[in-house]
Amino acid sequence: MDVIVDTISFGGKCLYYFLEAFTFKIIPPKRKDVAGEIVLITGGGSGLGRQLAIHFATLRAIIVLWDINEEGNKETCRLIKEMSNVKVFAYTCDCSKRQEVYQVAAQVREEVGNVTILINNAGIVTGKNFLDIPDDMIEKSFAVNALSHFWTYKAFLPAMIEANHGHLVCISSLAGTIGLNGLSDYCATKFAAFGFAESLFFELDLIKKTNIKTTIICPFLINTGMFDGCVSKYPLLLPILEPKYVAQKIIDAILQEKVYCTLPKSASFILYLKQIMAPKMTVAMVKYLGGETIMASFKGRMKPNTLPPETEEKHQ
Ligand SMILES: NC(=O)c1ccc[n+]([C@@H]2O[C@H](COP(=O)([O-])OP(=O)(O)OC[C@H]3O[C@@H](n4cnc5c(N)ncnc54)[C@H](O)[C@@H]3O)[C@@H](O)[C@H]2O)c1
Repeated sequence: MDVIVDTISFGGKCLYYFLEAFTFKIIPPKRKDVAGEIVLITGGGSGLGRQLAIHFATLRAIIVLWDINEEGNKETCRLIKEMSNVKVFAYTCDCSKRQEVYQVAAQVREEVGNVTILINNAGIVTGKNFLDIPDDMIEKSFAVNALSHFWTYKAFLPAMIEANHGHLVCISSLAGTIGLNGLSDYCATKFAAFGFAESLFFELDLIKKTNIKTTIICPFLINTGMFDGCVSKYPLLLPILEPKYVAQKIIDAILQEKVYCTLPKSASFILYLKQIMAPKMTVAMVKYLGGETIMASFKGRMKPNTLPPETEEKHQ
């Protein structure tokens, strides 16, 4: 009897949510107002993080920037202050270091208030074939790209739960949905970040904290410098994205409270094919799309601002 009731209830919910999603495709949901929200962006000192900070400033949110790169953070602050009079706070923080995250988070709570929109954006890439990646670089990639998300959630989620209000944003990657050669450590960290954010999305729903939203972003290559040298084989199908465009799309996804956002749109179709194709077909598709050679010309950031100082010294 329970099975029948459960199945009918499940079917009803599926139909309801399907119709809701369908309606939102035709009439996009009302965009939420983020004026006065406290937005913390890790890795706010350059690239995508900087663009997100600038966009949020135009929406009159209070901006908190975290980065290991103090100069980059200052520059983002300057750009924001130049164009608006919103409040912006910059903190030098190595978010791969748990105690440092907790310490700077306490400072933010005292000096700014409770963070209500948390954007885990800081990231690094080594860009080497698996056997060439030094062990400490693998650990560092996990610490920055994945573990840091655990520490920032631990620091800021309790206040969101208490208020049943907040938004958690995970900047994963297309490489967090499909494994690619030359990116084994990066892909693994981005899958980890995706899985962590998705798990918390379910966990928050189960404890009925449904006003804490989750958005997981999976972009293809962005022209920020992080993947300098990489080229797209078919730029019409998979263009290298401009940071301003990506930031705008991420803001749209946040304001519309979308859970998943893959960029560009064509990439969603590729991921769909991956789910339904035989593994050998997926390999053929990845090769056809240039996955085999995408990292061959990788240079990465020539400016040393993505790696923490001690790692740079060892690996330059
Ligand atoms: N650039 C791309 O092609 C691309 C594609 C998909 C996803 N992403 C992801 O987008 C995010 C932003 O990348 P980006 O392209 O703007 O690169 P970026 O190098 O311009 O920005 C990364 C920022 O993170 C900061 N950072 C690095 N380690 C840190 C640490 N330990 N603590 C605090 N800050 C630290 C850097 O100083 C830098 O300001 C990353 O998570 C990246 O993995 C980038």
